[in-house]
Amino acid sequence: MKAFVYLGVGRKALEERPKPEITTPTDAIIKVTRTTICGTDLHILKGDVPTCQPGRILGHEGVGVVESVGSAVTSFKTGDRVLISCISSCGKCEYCRKLMFSHCTTGGWILGNQIDGTQAEFVRIPYADTSLYPIPKGADEEALVMLSDILPTGFECGVLNGKVQPGSIVAIVGSGPIGLAALLTAQFYSPAEIIMIDLDDNRLEVAGGFGATSTINSADGKAVETIMRMTGGRGVDTAIEAVGIPATFELCEKIVAPGGVIANIGVHGTKVALHLELLWDRNITITTRLVDTVSTPMLMNSVRAQRIDPKLLITHRFKLDHILEAYETFGQAAKTRALKMLIEV
Ligand SMILES: NC(=O)c1ccc[n+]([C@@H]2O[C@H](COP(=O)([O-])OP(=O)(O)OC[C@H]3O[C@@H](n4cnc5c(N)ncnc54)[C@H](O)[C@@H]3O)[C@@H](O)[C@H]2O)c1
Ligand SMILES: [Zn+2]
Ligand SMILES: [Zn+2]
Repeated sequence: MKAFVYLGVGRKALEERPKPEITTPTDAIIKVTRTTICGTDLHILKGDVPTCQPGRILGHEGVGVVESVGSAVTSFKTGDRVLISCISSCGKCEYCRKLMFSHCTTGGWILGNQIDGTQAEFVRIPYADTSLYPIPKGADEEALVMLSDILPTGFECGVLNGKVQPGSIVAIVGSGPIGLAALLTAQFYSPAEIIMIDLDDNRLEVAGGFGATSTINSADGKAVETIMRMTGGRGVDTAIEAVGIPATFELCEKIVAPGGVIANIGVHGTKVALHLELLWDRNITITTRLVDTVSTPMLMNSVRAQRIDPKLLITHRFKLDHILEAYETFGQAAKTRALKMLIEV
């Protein structure tokens, strides 16, 4: 089969690989029909994710059709259409029983990281019963590809942890696919305002179309002043960090109102200053989270009922044969206006 393989820092190729086989009775083999590229895949190619070793097939998002199942799989059979979760969960360990699937002691985010992933014609999914979701008949599979990772991430790490409420003021720092996913799902709760902050005017324009009540380009270094002016000097109830660098987390520290929440989504590679000298008396909460994908069934219902349309995030389409071109396009998002690449297999 064809597969997109990480070959070491900055090296990648579309290679011919053997088709995966069931190795444990709880596995399923999925014929991938659609997949996509995540910002995290770019981190892997830069060598930022040491758990992902050269030779690995990348990809942790996608939909497909069940090709075969192991003897212990009871919820799926050959021919079923399924959504693949970016998180594999055994459903039985201490963390899975607490619905913290991301910390499953034998699963978590392993797909396209510690085991071969979805940017291929076939993929082996461990713990199939608890790591796949059935796709209802007639569902829009392109939209569902966005539910493997980015929608649950924006919703769980940003909106749920950030306690977005009716009438509240929300700021989302970072208007990439994850920030936009938080923007789409924050609207479930009817906040009064959702302010989007980024350096890229294209992405801010997209945010305007996705329901942001205002947008701020923070390149002038005046985002704090602007937000304070907009909120009567009070700040925001929820500040969602969706970039993953010190500057944007520190911005959240400066704009959070007393009693508010800073909900971090970004993956941070360096230390960030915690300004307790400014925050100790402000009754704030700081949350961190790795997406658990516990909200996936709820998000599937919301997509089916057309409450949200994550398909809007798809900006480019490629066949698997052209995945290198898709990576090029995705890697130059500022120039290409790329958000999500839909890869058809
Ligand atoms: N916690 C989780 O489980 C989880 C899951 C998936 C992704 N992530 C992380 O979420 C973050 C966002 O992911 P993404 O795919 O949307 O990334 P992305 O790189 O596509 O988007 C980041 C956005 O931030 C903007 N930006 C960069 N520097 C900025 C600055 N100084 N001020 C304001 N905006 C700035 C960029 O212009 C871009 O639009 C990443 O760190 C990613 O690794 C976390
Ligand atoms: Zn991802
Ligand atoms: Zn588990």
